[in-house]
Amino acid sequence: MSHGPATPLTAAAAGPLTGTAHVPGDKSISHRSLILGAMTVGETRVTGLLEGQDVLDTGRAMRAFGAQVEKQGDTWVIHGVGTGGLAEPEDVIDCGNSGTGVRLLMGAAATHGFAVTYTGDASLRSRPMARVTDPLALFGARAYGRSGGRLPMTVVGAAEPVPVRYVTPVPSAQVKSAVLLAGLNAPGETVVIEREATRDHSERMLRGFGAEITVEDTSEGRVIALTGQPELRPQTIVVPRDPSSAAFPVCAALIVPGSDVLVPNIGLNPTRAGLFETLRDMGADLTYENAREEGGEPVADLRARFSPAMKGIEVPPERAASMIDEYPILSVVAANAEGTTVMRGVKELRVKESDRIDAMATGLRDAGVTVRDGADWWKVEGRGPGGVTGGITAATHLDHRIAMSFLILGMASQKPVTVDDAGPIATSFPIFRDLMTALGATFS
Ligand code: S3P
Repeated sequence: MSHGPATPLTAAAAGPLTGTAHVPGDKSISHRSLILGAMTVGETRVTGLLEGQDVLDTGRAMRAFGAQVEKQGDTWVIHGVGTGGLAEPEDVIDCGNSGTGVRLLMGAAATHGFAVTYTGDASLRSRPMARVTDPLALFGARAYGRSGGRLPMTVVGAAEPVPVRYVTPVPSAQVKSAVLLAGLNAPGETVVIEREATRDHSERMLRGFGAEITVEDTSEGRVIALTGQPELRPQTIVVPRDPSSAAFPVCAALIVPGSDVLVPNIGLNPTRAGLFETLRDMGADLTYENAREEGGEPVADLRARFSPAMKGIEVPPERAASMIDEYPILSVVAANAEGTTVMRGVKELRVKESDRIDAMATGLRDAGVTVRDGADWWKVEGRGPGGVTGGITAATHLDHRIAMSFLILGMASQKPVTVDDAGPIATSFPIFRDLMTALGATFS
């Protein structure tokens, strides 16, 4: 749902950040837990769910599609309707700020014989949907939206869907997942081929829910084959903590003098952990403690200490998908490192909650950092530890990760940094301000 009036927030240079930061549950896994639980007959129980606005909006949507979704104590309990059992919502589905929410829901509902109208906030209404509705048309669904394939949009689902074979033209887990969720209610085998591996939570969770799904690395790319119309089995899910949220206290600790922060229980699925590898390549004092496996996912406690010797690097472009949400905060670290950080193969950043290259480049330049950019690349010239002037108000464009990145910039800059609206932080990291304050950050 759209949030209220803009709430500016300022972060000033912080003393050392120290202590333990328990970040919330993984956003990607939280959305999928609600959606898959709703497509399963029986009771799915979820703990550690991210209670951010994006996920709450998906929970509300699943109720509109006929599932029961409620919180009992610490556990979210979902009574689903079974594969093919979604009901026609009585009203427009408002996905707020969430691209993952709307795209996965469009997929899940597209092989049901009814129409659904989707909308969202100003950010979501500006984002491209054809990347999802194109493959959904192959199942037999039809989409009617605003020009440029934007929301609000009505998707008329296929009453008699056919399975599809689809090569994703963009590296996007949202597109892949939309096709797989649509394939759940199509007879026969739906195949998605991705040339670059993207986050694989949908594949892992579909398997966990009892679907027949195979993944094979071939010369064509990753070939994912799903047998349609399975009977999904209810699950008990413990959502791991979100590496994309962990990125903020970790990066803050690396650039604020004297810091030493522990961020426990972080999922380090290789399709998500690219930022941490990149930081280590830059010379960050970042260690994985107590590395273990939980629920089939690698997990560790991250320990980050102030790292004044970090150097800019050329980030391997093939790593982009595994850190796509982390480039904004990486650019803040890069500004505080020595030398130039080069990020290529990142044009997807231009169609996130905002144009993230433009949003970061504009604010960083105002703060005294040299940034160059092109359609699918950008370069940040580091000013060394404490070298960023700051003293700006950054425009956040309804983008939670832009807001958090600039606030972290303020903690390591000479003058405070203000963001024009901290409200969207609640979409993914509602406890951000309290958590960072407990570590020693100063907000006003
Ligand atoms: C997500 C996939 C990514 C990511 C988003 C969450 C998901 O988007 O940016 O925050 O849960 O599938 P794309 O798949 O479009 O790259």
